Amino acid sequence: MREVNVLVTGASGGIGGATAELFASKGATVYITDIDDAAGERRAHELGPTVHYRRLDVTAESDWQAVTSDMDRAGHPVRVLVNSAGAAMKAPLTQTTLQQFRGMIDLNLVGTFLGLRAAAAAMVNGGAVINISSLRGVLATAGLGAYGASKFGVRALSKVAALELADRGIRVNTVCPGSIDTEITASSDFAADDVEAYVQSIPMKRRGSPMEVAKAILFLAGDDSSYVTGIDLLVDGGTAAGVRTPEKQT
Ligand SMILES: NC(=O)c1ccc[n+]([C@@H]2O[C@H](COP(=O)([O-])OP(=O)(O)OC[C@H]3O[C@@H](n4cnc5c(N)ncnc54)[C@H](O)[C@@H]3O)[C@@H](O)[C@H]2O)c1
Repeated sequence: MREVNVLVTGASGGIGGATAELFASKGATVYITDIDDAAGERRAHELGPTVHYRRLDVTAESDWQAVTSDMDRAGHPVRVLVNSAGAAMKAPLTQTTLQQFRGMIDLNLVGTFLGLRAAAAAMVNGGAVINISSLRGVLATAGLGAYGASKFGVRALSKVAALELADRGIRVNTVCPGSIDTEITASSDFAADDVEAYVQSIPMKRRGSPMEVAKAILFLAGDDSSYVTGIDLLVDGGTAAGVRTPEKQT
C-alpha cells in the first residue's frame, strides 16, 4: 500500500476510522474525511504524519470537488476511495416521514453517487472504489425501509459503476457488514431491540468488529483482488448464507 493515496469518508470513527488505521499501518497516505471535525482531526493526529483530515460532507458536491483537488495539488491523487459515511434509522414505513426518508437516501445513496463521480473524475490512472452497503441492503428487514432502500441502491449503483469504469482500470465493489459494534448500532432507534436474541440468531453468535470490516475493504482495495469488480462481499458472521430450521426444545 506504499505510494497509495486513500480517501475514506465517515472516517472520524466506526468502520471508516478502523479502515483509515489499517491502511495507514500498511504505509498508505490516508485522507480521513467526515463532518465531525474534532474527532477527525484527533484520529488523523493519532495515526501519524501520513494521515490527514479534511472536512467532507458527502452530500455536498462542492466538498468532493474541493477535497479531490486538494489531494491532487498535494501530489496525492486519489487511488482508493472508501465510501463509509452513513447513518441508519429504524421505523415502520407508515411512521417514516418524507423528510426522514429523503434524509436516508441523500446521505447513504446520493453521497455514494457523488463519491463515485468524483472518483471517476480523479482516478485518471485507475483505482478502486469500495462502497459500504449493509446486510440490510441484501436481506429486506422490517423496520429498516428507508435504510434498506438506500443500501440496496448502493449495491445497484456499485455494479453499474463497475461495468462502466472497468475499461478505465477502476474497480468498484461493495462490502456488506452485518451487525458491527459502532456508534450507529448504539443509536436510540435500536434501544428497544433484544440484542442478545439477535446475536444468537447470527450463525457465528457474535457481532463483528470495525477492524474485521476494514480487512475486507483492504482486500478489495489492493492487488490481491485485481480481477474482482462488481461484487458484494458480505462480512456478516454467516447471516445471509440462509436459514436454519428451528428444533423442538427438549
Ligand atoms: N455498524 C454496523 O452495524 C453497520 C452495519 C452495516 C452497514 N454499516 C454501514 O457502515 C458505514 C459506517 O457506519 P459505522 O458503523 O462506522 O457508523 P458510525 O456512526 O460509527 O460512523 C459514521 C460516520 O459517518 C459520519 N457522517 C455522517 N453524516 C455524514 C456526512 N453527511 N458526510 C460525511 N460524514 C458523515 C459520522 O460523523 C460518522 O463519523 C455506514 O454506511 C453504515 O450504514 C454499518
